[in-house]
Order: sequence, then structure tokens, then C-alpha cells
Amino acid sequence: MPTFPNALTDRFTLSNGVEIPQVGFGTWQIPDGPETYDSVAAALAAGYRHIDTAQAYGNEESVGRAVRDSGIPRDEIFVTTKLPAEIKDADEARARFARTTGDLDLGAIDLYLIHAPWPWTEIGKDCREGNIAVWKVFEELYGSGAVRSIGVSNFQVPDLESLIEATDVVPHANQIRYFIGHTQPEVTAFCAEHEILVEAYSPLATGGLLENAELQALARKYGRSVAQLSIRYVLDKGLLPLPKTTTPSRIVENADVDFEISVDDIATLDAMDDPTA
Ligand SMILES: NC(=O)c1ccc[n+]([C@@H]2O[C@H](COP(=O)([O-])OP(=O)(O)OC[C@H]3O[C@@H](n4cnc5c(N)ncnc54)[C@H](OP(=O)(O)O)[C@@H]3O)[C@@H](O)[C@H]2O)c1
Repeated sequence: MPTFPNALTDRFTLSNGVEIPQVGFGTWQIPDGPETYDSVAAALAAGYRHIDTAQAYGNEESVGRAVRDSGIPRDEIFVTTKLPAEIKDADEARARFARTTGDLDLGAIDLYLIHAPWPWTEIGKDCREGNIAVWKVFEELYGSGAVRSIGVSNFQVPDLESLIEATDVVPHANQIRYFIGHTQPEVTAFCAEHEILVEAYSPLATGGLLENAELQALARKYGRSVAQLSIRYVLDKGLLPLPKTTTPSRIVENADVDFEISVDDIATLDAMDDPTA
């Protein structure tokens, strides 16, 4: 049996008791077909056991095939997918879920997320009623065992409050944009209070952190790359990082994060402004 870094084998436990591997492999912007299939296959071979996709990424079919072909038992791989942000109607949500399960073809989904509180073309639109209607479908899916846990993405505190007030199941996770200098303290604190696991998407700021001179100097001090420093930082905050790369050497590098950042250096990172702003 190969041995993998702790970052890949350690797990968080969601509020419903479901365990989730602490580092997830992101697949946004990886085209369906060989690119997605090969990247997911490489990630699984490198020891990742958590794959993050979405119907909007258009690559669920290749993700599913790579997971099935891996030979790894299905219950050892955690698969997250998402209902497209523009779907705010119960019947449409059921139809989209049916399409997702057909495309993935992996049986029960481990975590199903509302991709955003509003359509990406209307950021900030008040979709409270639609989110509640869709969440009730998520609760049905959860109750039936079609999904093992349910959550949201890009939800801020008011979005979470209105959902929690009107429905029964508190989201198990909230996937938000989070990286050094962009740490969303209000929603992160709210999620901690309500036992909602925060997943950090774009932990490298979609590549935006990598050329930062201050981060490069700090990473050098640990003999690590900026990507590794950035992923370790997220884990040190108790959050779940979702790095994406299609480069095989980087797939391995991004999981090799079993090192300790000093308290002083964490404080320095905490005080940094958003390097991408
Ligand atoms: N819920 C949402 O609304 C939402 C939104 C955005 C993202 N996400 C999720 O979060 C995942 C990650 O976010 P992201 O795709 O924005 O990007 P990211 O992980 O922050 O950064 C990815 C970029 O960094 C490069 N990179 C990765 N590792 C590297 C390394 N070790 N050295 C140098 N360059 C490296 C990649 O290049 P190469 O691929 O060329 O190697 C790619 O250009 C997504 O794939 C998706 O699953 C969710």
C-alpha cells in the first residue's frame, strides 16, 4: 500500500457525522474529456480522495468515469457537485439533479451544493424564496439517501440566515472564495457558530497569489512553494482547501503540505492585504 501525506488522509467531520477528506481536488475550467479524466485520475493516483465538480463545469461525465475506472472503492472517494446558480425552482432543481446523477453515474452524491445564492449574471439579486424552494428539494434528496450531505456555496451571512430560518436542515458546508488576504471573517465566524464546514475555493486565488514577492520569500523560508504555503494556511485555519491544477507534478506538490507555519508567520499572513485586489 502506498503511503500518502496526512493532508490527504486526514478528514473533517460534517455536523451530520459524514467524514470528508481535508483536501479536495478542484476541477473548474478543466474541459470535459481527456483533460478532466486524466487530471482526476492523476489526483486519485496521488492519493486525493475528494473531488469537487459542478454541473456548470460541464465535466461531470469525465469526473465520474475517472472515479469509476480508478478501481478505488466508491465509498473511499468523496464527490461534491453543485446545482447551477441560476436554478431557483423546485422542479428544475429535481430535473438538474437527475441529469447530474446520470452524468456522474456514481450512485449517491457525497455533497450537493447550491452553487451560489444568485445567478452569476445577476450577482446580489434577492433570490431568498428560490433558495428556500431549492433547499427543500435538497432536504428531500438528503432524506432519501440520494445525497449524503447538503450545502451551499458563495452564501454570505444574510443568505444563510434566511435559509436557516425557513428550513429544517442547517447546511453542512459553505464553499466560499478564500485565500491569504481574502479570508471573509464574518461568514467564516457565522459558519463556525453553526457547525457549517467552510470549504476554501480558489485557495491560490486562481493563480493570483503565486507571483507575490512577500509570499515567495516566506515560502522559501520553509523550503516550500507559494502554492504549498497557501494550502497549508487554509488547513491551519481549520478550513478545507480545494486547489486545482492539471499539471501532474503540481497535483502531487499541492498535497505535500505536512509542515508547520510558525505562529508569527501565520500572524503576518493574517495581516496581509488581498494580493489580487
Ligand atoms: N463554488 C464556486 O463558486 C467555485 C468558484 C471557483 C472555484 N471553485 C472550486 O475551487 C477550485 C480551485 O479554485 P480555482 O480553480 O479558482 O484555482 P486555484 O486552485 O486557486 O488555482 C489554480 C491555478 O493555479 C495553478 N496552480 C495550481 N497549483 C500550482 C502549483 N503548485 N504551482 C504553480 N501553479 C499552480 C493552476 O495551473 P495549472 O492547472 O495550469 O497547473 C491554475 O492556474 C476549482 O477548481 C473549483 O473546484 C468553486
